[in-house]
Amino acid sequence: MPPKISLTRYLVEQQRVDGLIPEQLRLLLEVVARACKSISQAVNKGALGGVLGTANTENVQGEIQKKLDIIANEVLIEANEWGGHLAAMASEEMDTIYVVPNRYPQGEYLLLFDPLDGSSNIDVNVSIGTIFSVLKKPEGDAGVQEKDFLQAGARQVAAGYCVYGPQTTLVLTVGDGVAMFTLDREQGSFVLTQEDVRIPEDTKEFAINMSNMRHWDAPVKRYVEECLQGTEGPRGKDFNMRWIASMVADVHRILTRGGIFMYPWDKREPDKPGKLRLMYEANPMSWLIEQAGGAATNGRQRILDIQPGKLHERVSVILGSKNEVKRVTSYHAKL
Ligand code: AHG
Ligand code: MN
Ligand code: MN
Repeated sequence: MPPKISLTRYLVEQQRVDGLIPEQLRLLLEVVARACKSISQAVNKGALGGVLGTANTENVQGEIQKKLDIIANEVLIEANEWGGHLAAMASEEMDTIYVVPNRYPQGEYLLLFDPLDGSSNIDVNVSIGTIFSVLKKPEGDAGVQEKDFLQAGARQVAAGYCVYGPQTTLVLTVGDGVAMFTLDREQGSFVLTQEDVRIPEDTKEFAINMSNMRHWDAPVKRYVEECLQGTEGPRGKDFNMRWIASMVADVHRILTRGGIFMYPWDKREPDKPGKLRLMYEANPMSWLIEQAGGAATNGRQRILDIQPGKLHERVSVILGSKNEVKRVTSYHAKL
């Protein structure tokens, strides 16, 4: 049997052999993985650890925070603030950026995260996760400000997520394809379980919250209606549907066997471009999907090319198997 490759070894080799990641970035990714391990432990304990239920506070989006949203946020901050690899962090659960305190050295990276994705699934024991994105602080500026974070997703230097499901799996890209690592609880380390992840270009599986159908725009309605017509409709094949309501778990399925995921703009909040957040959810997931041969757009343009205007900006998301994403995007162009 070939030796097991730990995340640590994988990262060292990416640094040493391929020169793909500088040492500080390697350290940063190790720390994020360690934080995910700790979050995974808390998730596993569930009711026994007193981590279920609501915290009765609201985040900047007006969403009620769950206890685990806050615990995961704190774990990520505490793990990352002292290592010297970061200048600042930004989180879906914090109104403003978190600058590394003066008592610690400041590094050159910026870390963004959705500490706990799929909050509505926490209490019902369904897969949830952590999503993260790493940017470089623009050179030349003294200190660090919110505007330093406002970089297009194409400028990410690392992105990934950790899904807490039947297994805890960390999925990572540093721009050289997508690798998956499964948490070996006995060893306490992530072990490489898949490299060069590829998404099939075609699919017969779509993921969207169908209860919002009446609120969608015409192009998304058209696409889904055509899928529903199956062999009798213009697509000439039957489609299957999945909706986990945890983006991490839906994206993980797509990276594993293909599919298309959509959380489009809808009429419930007409002034907002969508529900999902550009910097914490759409950008890291879009990069992973592209690195695995898929595509990601907001219906009009590539998500990774969007210049963010503000930290907590929302966006319409269509991602997954390339030919399906192209099709939905082309329906938008025709209207
Ligand atoms: P979060 O828990 O970080 O707020 O994200 C939840 C997101 C995403 O994970 C999921 O795809 C979507 O919200 C589910 O939304 P609906 O409940 O509207 O289906
Ligand atoms: Mn989320
Ligand atoms: Mn969240």
